[in-house]
Amino acid sequence: MSGDLAGLRVVVSAGPTYEDIDPVRFVGNRSSGKMGFAIAAAAARRGATTILVAGPVALDTPAGVERRDVRSAAQMHAAVMAALPADVYVGAAAVADFTPAAFAEGKIKKTPGDEGLVLELVRTADILADVATHPRRPRLVVGFAAETGDLEANALDKLARKRVDMVAANRVGVAGSGFEADDNTLHVLDAGGGRVLGPAAKTTLADALLDLVAARLR
Ligand code: C5P
Repeated sequence: MSGDLAGLRVVVSAGPTYEDIDPVRFVGNRSSGKMGFAIAAAAARRGATTILVAGPVALDTPAGVERRDVRSAAQMHAAVMAALPADVYVGAAAVADFTPAAFAEGKIKKTPGDEGLVLELVRTADILADVATHPRRPRLVVGFAAETGDLEANALDKLARKRVDMVAANRVGVAGSGFEADDNTLHVLDAGGGRVLGPAAKTTLADALLDLVAARLR
């Protein structure tokens, strides 16, 4: 296949994860998966062998993409690790940071007099950090940062703490950006500094981000 990413294997994670509490309830987040799906679509269009590890989303599989559906953070972790080695990993999924300490086999019932319910949550494994420190680490590891404030500071922190090569930060919790929206603005940081992509359609931003990825691999 031709294209500037031909010959490369790109793994993308996208969407939310759902952490089940009992057979009818879960803890989740508001990621639509649109940004990650757009990146996978663009990578495949540009010639990469593209594996898309997708959380529960209502999106069609982009042309030429190999999709692996998962539900929980633990399943996403396993699917991403199984997709390595790769040349590039883009962690665009909004992975749950916490998951219920125990799954209740039966539906948790309310009983008269209950004032509330205390749910114990434990940390999930950090997929991005584990990819970045993997013995067969991809040449380029790109993380996302969905933030409601302090975009640059949080992205810088992520760059160092998770040992990733590039962080794309976007604002969530405002109209026209972040989760669920079709448009976005990405603040991309790497060792060379920062730049702002957009505001633009997520499909346009996907190509702009892959331009930076391709330039780093040259
Ligand atoms: O630290 P924070 O969760 O905000 O970092 C976001 C980035 O880390 C995203 O790229 C996300 O896909 C990734 N992440 C992950 N595994 C987790 C939590 C976040 O891969 N358990």
